[in-house]
Amino acid sequence: MLVSATEMLKKAKAGKYAVGQFNINNLEWAKAVLLTAQENNSPVILGVSEGAGKYMGGFNTVMGMVNGLIKDQNITVPVAVHLDHGSYDGAKNALAAGFSSVMFDGSHYPIDENIAKTKELVELAHSQGKSIEAEVGSIGGEEDGVVGKGEVADPQECKLIADLGVDMLAAGIGNIHGSYPENWPGLEFGALDDIQKLTGDMPLVLHGGTGIPEDMIQKAISLGVSKINVNTECQLTFAAATRKYIEEGKDQQGKGFDPRKLLAPGFQAIKDTVKEKMELFGSVGKA
Ligand code: 13P
Repeated sequence: MLVSATEMLKKAKAGKYAVGQFNINNLEWAKAVLLTAQENNSPVILGVSEGAGKYMGGFNTVMGMVNGLIKDQNITVPVAVHLDHGSYDGAKNALAAGFSSVMFDGSHYPIDENIAKTKELVELAHSQGKSIEAEVGSIGGEEDGVVGKGEVADPQECKLIADLGVDMLAAGIGNIHGSYPENWPGLEFGALDDIQKLTGDMPLVLHGGTGIPEDMIQKAISLGVSKINVNTECQLTFAAATRKYIEEGKDQQGKGFDPRKLLAPGFQAIKDTVKEKMELFGSVGKA
């Protein structure tokens, strides 16, 4: 069932668990995540970056595919389709195409401009019964081979943005996208606690869910994180399973690989990864 992320995240915050956002790239990804959510009776958020949306053919194609899967595969658990790190125009286009949720990543704008644009998009999303995520303090990651430490959000700025009526807030607490470097000092729980105290019931979002030790994930959830984004880990397990299948040379004697068989191990690997995360985040059985 396609829904906004609002209710599922309110329930998660109150119940002290987190809903996973799993980014999708194609049909196999979307089907694997949806089936795993249904099998585990878990709410789920499908993350779609602007690049992945473009790759899949556009936002309308994404919604056609996901709505079709929900119907044909009898997916009854709550599913939100969420634009990940959306630009101002991207958020508007995703809403127009039927996304049930968007993130507006205005963290690179000066705070006043981030506020003005966020305000406008909050009104637009809510007028359609949809949810919106904003970000304060940029999430670090690898750029041109340089791994940057994630910025730590200013709690007062978080409060300012939270008060604009967003449904979830991504606050940088030293988290980064992609794998973490050996010398990563870990999440800044002091900052998370300060942010949670000032923003109250606001569901907080932890980006960069790949590679964060399990005890840190659990502590973050106990301090108000209700949505955790995972992308790289599914890519790694998908690639490893596909590579293994190719190396085993299971082609069809001169006809090349059967495309369905070729993608099956990767599909299963995504399912296994998503299930593991849903168990860790505590969302199993919470649909
Ligand atoms: P990872 O790729 O580190 O799992 O992060 C995903 C993410 O935060 C998407 O917004």
